[in-house]
Amino acid sequence: MLEVRDLQVRYGAIRAVHGVSLEAADGELVALLGANGAGKSSTLMCIAGALKAAGGSIRLGAEDVTGASPEAKVRKGVATVPETRDVFPDLTVEENLTLGAYIRRADTNGVREDREKMLTLFPRLAERSAQPAGTLSGGEQQMLVIARAMMSRPKLLLLDEPSLGLAPVVVDQIFEMIAALKQSGLTILLVEQNVAKALSVADRAYVMRLGAIAASGSAAEIGAATDLSALYLGG
Ligand SMILES: Nc1ncnc2c1ncn2[C@@H]1O[C@H](COP(=O)(O)OP(=O)(O)O)[C@@H](O)[C@H]1O
Ligand SMILES: [Mg+2]
Repeated sequence: MLEVRDLQVRYGAIRAVHGVSLEAADGELVALLGANGAGKSSTLMCIAGALKAAGGSIRLGAEDVTGASPEAKVRKGVATVPETRDVFPDLTVEENLTLGAYIRRADTNGVREDREKMLTLFPRLAERSAQPAGTLSGGEQQMLVIARAMMSRPKLLLLDEPSLGLAPVVVDQIFEMIAALKQSGLTILLVEQNVAKALSVADRAYVMRLGAIAASGSAAEIGAATDLSALYLGG
């Protein structure tokens, strides 16, 4: 599904990502872990097409999509939930969901069906479907941006720190939501600092440190790695 080879991301003279290779098979949930500043978001936003790669390649299935724009990536089945968790605050929950299907807005019946599907899957959103999104709690807004991303019918979902700043009980709800999406066969790349929660849903994990991959393995292997905290030191 996703194959990243020797990816490089730069901000001017700063080399944020140098030589990251990772893959996610069809239906796999892969966690990308690491301390603040390790280069996780840069990697994810580059896969999303929002940042230009300074080197390396990104393949989706058989297709090289390294230089593709964010919109082209969405059309090829990649949906992204950035760290910023942006809802359209003045629009209702339902309207926010509809905008997530922008690339296939002509298919009004299909969009309506998908909206119903999301509201059935996530009753907390259904209860608030007519409410302006700006009035939702942080956790509900996170649920909404994930559900909105699903409205483009992605094959690959990129999630950047969905648990950031949320209370433990809300984090549990978000991870239940992620687990439910995985059940549907979706491929997910999950960037997280909450190692325990991420490994509880992941099949495999990569640990980034200083812009490179420092370790990789099955979720069980990474969880059992005695040097995991050492891998985090120094960011
Ligand atoms: N817009 C930017 N301009 C300059 N440097 C940046 C920018 N965004 C991130 N960086 C730097 O790139 C490195 C990786 O950042 P980031 O990908 O956000 O890491 P993470 O998501 O793992 O916390 C850090 O050193 C960070 O300071
Ligand atoms: Mg980040």
